[in-house]
Amino acid sequence: MHAAALLLLGYLAGSVPFGVLLTRWLRGVDVRQSGSGNIGATNVTRVAGKKLGAVVLLLDALKGALAVALALWLMPEAPRMHAAVGLSAFLGHVYPVWLKLHGGKGVATALGVLTVLVPLGALAGALVYAGLVAAWRVSSIGSLAGGVTAVAVASLTARAPEYAWLSALLFALILWTHRSNIQRLLRHTERRF
Ligand code: G3P
Repeated sequence: MHAAALLLLGYLAGSVPFGVLLTRWLRGVDVRQSGSGNIGATNVTRVAGKKLGAVVLLLDALKGALAVALALWLMPEAPRMHAAVGLSAFLGHVYPVWLKLHGGKGVATALGVLTVLVPLGALAGALVYAGLVAAWRVSSIGSLAGGVTAVAVASLTARAPEYAWLSALLFALILWTHRSNIQRLLRHTERRF
């Protein structure tokens, strides 16, 4: 497959807005109109419960993981391409053409991408997320601290430097997508689950 087609496929996979689709189909609500308005698993959990939140988390992660797995399979010797496809899937989730480019914050999709490329980084990030959310019930704190952890572990364990750079870039983008969360955290007005 041509590199451009693979990048487009990564973007299109990432752009499938599972949070919007499943809450609409199964609960008849628009997740964008409630809670934080975000389309990701955290807000789906708020709006539609833990089970659907878990399903959306899984599917949003899977779309990133599958896109990168396909790139690895088709171009096993091209780490830059694997990273680029992972970035495309992430950008598809954050800027989906179907939602006029107003998508999610990218944490679950980044987790899926990193699970394939830097499994130890993804695992460490997920554990930090889970621990902090269990303690404080504030998802954005978990996402940000989990992201830093994933970058640190990826820098030590990544099989290719491109994967470590991708981890850092995804975290920088996650800081950007969480800018309103960060403002609320600083004002002590951030939502809990
Ligand atoms: O992964 C998104 C999470 O970190 C924040 O979600 O809905 O609280 O803005 P939310």
